[in-house]
Amino acid sequence: MVQTLQWTDSGVRFIDQTKLPTEEAYVTCKTYQQVADAIRNMVVRGAPAIGVAAAMGIALGIKNSKAETVGELKPEFDKICDAIGNTRPTAVNLFWAIRRMREKFEQLRVRPLPQLKQALIEEAQRMHAEDIAGNQAMGRHGATLMPASGGVLTHCNAGALATCGYGTALGVIRAAVEQGKKLHVYADETRPFLQGSRLTAWELMKDGIPTTVISDNMAGAMMKQGKIGAIVVGADRIAANGDVANKIGTYTLAVLAKEHGIPFYVAAPFSTVDLDTLDGNSIPIEQRNPREVTHIAGKQMVPDGTEVENPAFDVTPAKYVSAIVTEKGIARAPYGESLRKLSEDVAVLQR
Ligand code: MRU
Repeated sequence: MVQTLQWTDSGVRFIDQTKLPTEEAYVTCKTYQQVADAIRNMVVRGAPAIGVAAAMGIALGIKNSKAETVGELKPEFDKICDAIGNTRPTAVNLFWAIRRMREKFEQLRVRPLPQLKQALIEEAQRMHAEDIAGNQAMGRHGATLMPASGGVLTHCNAGALATCGYGTALGVIRAAVEQGKKLHVYADETRPFLQGSRLTAWELMKDGIPTTVISDNMAGAMMKQGKIGAIVVGADRIAANGDVANKIGTYTLAVLAKEHGIPFYVAAPFSTVDLDTLDGNSIPIEQRNPREVTHIAGKQMVPDGTEVENPAFDVTPAKYVSAIVTEKGIARAPYGESLRKLSEDVAVLQR
């Protein structure tokens, strides 16, 4: 399995996702500032991976600190959490991870400094292991929704590279294939950053899962031709009412799916569910550098001075979502109730 991110003695090691698919290169971040830059610059990306990278970045900052007492460490800890929190605004997993590290810090601040540091490192490593186990559970639940055979469309990359391993949407596909279902994946290219063609296709080719890359504007035609039996995507934030923020272009797919009577599934861990955000209108949408749109592989594609927009995510209203697959089971509309019920089960398990 590809090692998306890893805690090592010398720092946090990432596969550099900006270099894929032509180069499999790894970088080791030795400071929390380097981890923050890796998140901001999409060396690591995908909501669950960003969350665990944030936790590891915090653990690394604490490990490197020269503070001699917990009292001295606290303002440094806050500064580190703020720096990591200021990287990308949409994926709530980032803020979930920071909150979890803060809670651990508060819980253990009475302990001797070396013990506190070790506990924070272990917490980040635990989150890494939990993410993989959660994805495998999500896969088992979600596989039941996949057709026995035929085309399944996905958007962006919600695979091993977007998580600590196995993936969310691709985890559902992987589990279905492991169960013997004969799926053929249609991977949207996912302009402008090309996570679908560069990353999803790379992962699925490695696994030997039949894959066809299409440019985003081909999806409707593929649906009309009957090539797509289901759509499964990941999420960056799911509001309490079931509205889903995910990679720009997801909303278009959901509307098209409804027109063609194709089920539209979202697969995400509970760390992506934000019950404090009531609906999709309150989800902050990251605006990225226009250069991602104006240039492809360094070559300019848009005339000088042209106005460009580059929202990284859109929001799909809950009414288009056929089901939300989580590690605890499948939620269906009305999501206000089903998500709250599943979240209570998660809280009981974590107690
Ligand atoms: O901008 P990115 O590449 O971080 O966006 C990633 C996505 O939109 C994914 O679909 C989402 O994070 C789910 S990943 C399991």
